[in-house]
Amino acid sequence: MATESAGAGGLARGSVLIEARGLIRTYGTGESAQRALDGLSLEIRQGELLAILGSSGSGKTTLLNMLGGLDRPDQGDVLFRGNSILRGGDREMTRYRKEHVGFIFQHFNLIPELTVYENVDLTADRARDPKIVERVLDRLGLSGRGDAYPSQLSGGQQQRVSIARALAKRSAVLLCDEPTGALDYETGKEVLTVLEQLVREDGETVVIVTHTREVGRMADRSIRLRSGRIQDETVNERAVSAREIEW
Ligand SMILES: Nc1ncnc2c1ncn2[C@@H]1O[C@H](COP(=O)(O)OP(=O)(O)OP(=O)(O)O)[C@@H](O)[C@H]1O
Ligand SMILES: [Mg+2]
Repeated sequence: MATESAGAGGLARGSVLIEARGLIRTYGTGESAQRALDGLSLEIRQGELLAILGSSGSGKTTLLNMLGGLDRPDQGDVLFRGNSILRGGDREMTRYRKEHVGFIFQHFNLIPELTVYENVDLTADRARDPKIVERVLDRLGLSGRGDAYPSQLSGGQQQRVSIARALAKRSAVLLCDEPTGALDYETGKEVLTVLEQLVREDGETVVIVTHTREVGRMADRSIRLRSGRIQDETVNERAVSAREIEW
């Protein structure tokens, strides 16, 4: 699968970007202990669109938090470009998260007091591209909306701002937790189409957590979690475009 072309994460497309090894995470203690992840291992490859499916409580958000350095496993390791993000302590994990991970949440998590431009500018990596904010706003079809406040935008536009924000900091991976969960059907499809284009056209690496089984069809690969383990995995030789999917 590996090719010559380097993707947005700086690695050749298809090489392993993030690797989770034997993750165990238990919440609570004693009788109320809940094992959210139960020895889960997973590789995320540069330039792939990965869908993580599974019913409520199956461990999707817990897994995403581990992959993104928001939380630590009780056992196991997470490697980014071959290096553990856990061994160096909290400071190292925070650095990984800040430098390399873009999170997209159901409820956008924009700062209401800041304009669209300012929200994106906040974490933008201007050292590498002084025009990065303008460029990503343009890429996301938001160039006319830089002066607007989040509350003045539709849900789909707000989600596009949060995607722009993740891109402007040059994240190596976009980790999306139910990115369409707060959107209506058509708007949700539009956001999925944007994420798909970022993978297909720009070589970004995108992980989408979703309840919606059909979303798995647009991915290169989808895994289904059950009780903190991977129940099954499907590789789509021919991923369907987000526009074609109905659910
Ligand atoms: N902070 C927490 N404290 C206690 N238990 C937790 C916590 N976070 C998650 N859990 C438990 O861990 C398990 C996995 O939760 P997780 O949030 O990862 O599921 P999910 O697949 O994301 O579910 P959903 O689709 O509802 O978002 C659940 O049983 C949940 O109750
Ligand atoms: Mg969740």
